[in-house]
Amino acid sequence: MTDITTEQATAAASGAAATERFRSRHQSGHTSAGTERVDTLATELITAVHDIVRRHQVTYAEYDALKAWLIQVGQDSEWPLFLDVWIEHVVEEVANENREGSKGTIEGPYYVPGSPRLPAEATLPMRDGEKGTPLLFQGHVTSVDGTPLSGATVEIWHADNDGYYSQFAPGLPEWNLRGHVVADETGHFWINTIEPAPYQIPTDGSCGRLITAAGWHAWRPAHLHLKVSAPGHQLITTQLYFRGGNHVEDDIAQAVKPELILAPTPVADGKGDGNEVTYDFVLDKA
Ligand code: DHB
Ligand code: FE
Repeated sequence: MTDITTEQATAAASGAAATERFRSRHQSGHTSAGTERVDTLATELITAVHDIVRRHQVTYAEYDALKAWLIQVGQDSEWPLFLDVWIEHVVEEVANENREGSKGTIEGPYYVPGSPRLPAEATLPMRDGEKGTPLLFQGHVTSVDGTPLSGATVEIWHADNDGYYSQFAPGLPEWNLRGHVVADETGHFWINTIEPAPYQIPTDGSCGRLITAAGWHAWRPAHLHLKVSAPGHQLITTQLYFRGGNHVEDDIAQAVKPELILAPTPVADGKGDGNEVTYDFVLDKA
């Protein structure tokens, strides 16, 4: 993957890393869709743009600004960031509309497969004195019929207390705040980590320029990313948020659902610092 050599977590550096990561997981850009499907989708997309041009009397100056911006998104390697912030949530809505179990939400651009495998009572890899409020996140994984899922896997990744993800911002240990935890025979898991900070879309690239030009804000609420799986069940990709946190009500990626908001409480006296919270996952059968 691309080395991030800049000292700053720039849009170009995190975009390049996200682009490389996407390419490594999706070998070719070839679609498995047939000609008819591509014809339908591409024609409707192009026609929707024509309608917007007519409805809003788009000028040549605006058309050229769009052209310059699209070229720049590619040059900044910001397509993964753009798509996952503004489009993915609807793809997820369609993909998971028939699930009965836990709610999913977007994966985002910063998933990395192959994180360290950890026991059911786990502490995520983190730096000595990792900044942030300690968080004990625990729960059970069950099937939709209530059966505990022995040995379910809870894969977790999240930003640090400055809002940065390991492998996408400079200076962080490779697997910082990433791991996959194997639940015990009752489907129970305990994960010691820290509460992440809200995440800001890099403001110095083309996505940032769009946000500024449109008068939007660049924030996602603090979140934990998860992929939960078990044999014979459908994997769920989701995120969990923190009640009362900044931007829970106005996530730029529109990925918050009421069922995904945690309300951690201070850990009981004598059990250490920080907060604790329980969240149970329910998986649909495969
Ligand atoms: C983006 C970043 C995230 O951390 C996330 O969860 C979703 C999208 C982004 O920058 O595109
Ligand atoms: Fe994220």
